[in-house]
Amino acid sequence: MGLFDGKVAIVTGAGRGIGREEAMLMAREGASVVVNDVGGASTGEGSDKAPAQEVVDEIVAAGGKAVANYDDISTWKGGEAFVNQAVEEFGGLDILVNNAGILRDKMSFNMTEEEWDAVIQVHLKGHFVPSRFAAAYWRQKSKDTGESVNAKIVNTSSEAGLYGNAGQLNYAAAKAGIAAMTIVLARELDRFGVRSNAIAPVALTRLTDDLMGGVDEKMKAALDPANVAAGVGWLASDLSAGVNGQVLKIQGGLLQIVRGWNPASDVKSDGSWTIESIDAVKKDLFANSDPGVPPFLLPI
Ligand SMILES: NC(=O)c1ccc[n+]([C@@H]2O[C@H](COP(=O)([O-])OP(=O)(O)OC[C@H]3O[C@@H](n4cnc5c(N)ncnc54)[C@H](O)[C@@H]3O)[C@@H](O)[C@H]2O)c1
Repeated sequence: MGLFDGKVAIVTGAGRGIGREEAMLMAREGASVVVNDVGGASTGEGSDKAPAQEVVDEIVAAGGKAVANYDDISTWKGGEAFVNQAVEEFGGLDILVNNAGILRDKMSFNMTEEEWDAVIQVHLKGHFVPSRFAAAYWRQKSKDTGESVNAKIVNTSSEAGLYGNAGQLNYAAAKAGIAAMTIVLARELDRFGVRSNAIAPVALTRLTDDLMGGVDEKMKAALDPANVAAGVGWLASDLSAGVNGQVLKIQGGLLQIVRGWNPASDVKSDGSWTIESIDAVKKDLFANSDPGVPPFLLPI
């Protein structure tokens, strides 16, 4: 018996890296998987059917069920077609893993409009569009059957967005947005029986090769994308029942639930604030925290 026997899963950007391992794991555990990948460069240019097709071939050769999808999931048409394909080919949809991503790192003062737009499009809209069509499908199914649909969304955020990494203004803004989107989806879709969570992964893939060039063999093994896929598998399964709107960081042997934007202080006034009255309470505002730039909890 597999954990996902009889379930239908779709994984975006599943031709390589973390998404590939997520698709393989779900298939090994019995899911029928739509393997999406546009097959572009790590910066987003170009397209190639080979990465998605190779993952499908590997799943099928191992006795699993999978079909390829080569759409750009950040387009309205692509996201809709991708969700429809799962329903048409496998008769439904139970799990959506939003994973596809690209990088175009630059400091704010050097970033071009195109670099900003490309990263925001693939990550932020690329999470929104499949989620939107999957959510519409689940809402209708719940209305038609009068039952909870027991479905899951797993999004892919990043510590770059949760802590704010210099040199990644576009990417960090998108990944912070994805963390917020995860909570909104959890609030909106809970009533239909859909749970929405996110991961903040650290893994060795082509996206991080440059950053982690110096890591030793032991670290390389710990940062295998398959390690991250296990967390996604858990969030996508019924084993994590009750977990909703959370961000799970996975790095080697470390798991963390990461939360942000809680009040760090509480200062009240009976009347309206003025610049001077705010300045008079600044010590109380930062009584429990440093007023400087918040620390980046470095992954490595
Ligand atoms: N590797 C890490 O340490 C790390 C850390 C934090 C977050 N992430 C996130 O994890 C996700 C996976 O990254 P990875 O490291 O496996 O990278 P990767 O480059 O190995 O895989 C990403 C895949 O997404 C595909 N893709 C890109 N744009 C697409 C689009 N519009 N439509 C369909 N497919 C598209 C690419 O072709 C590629 O195969 C990304 O969202 C990334 O930002 C990775």
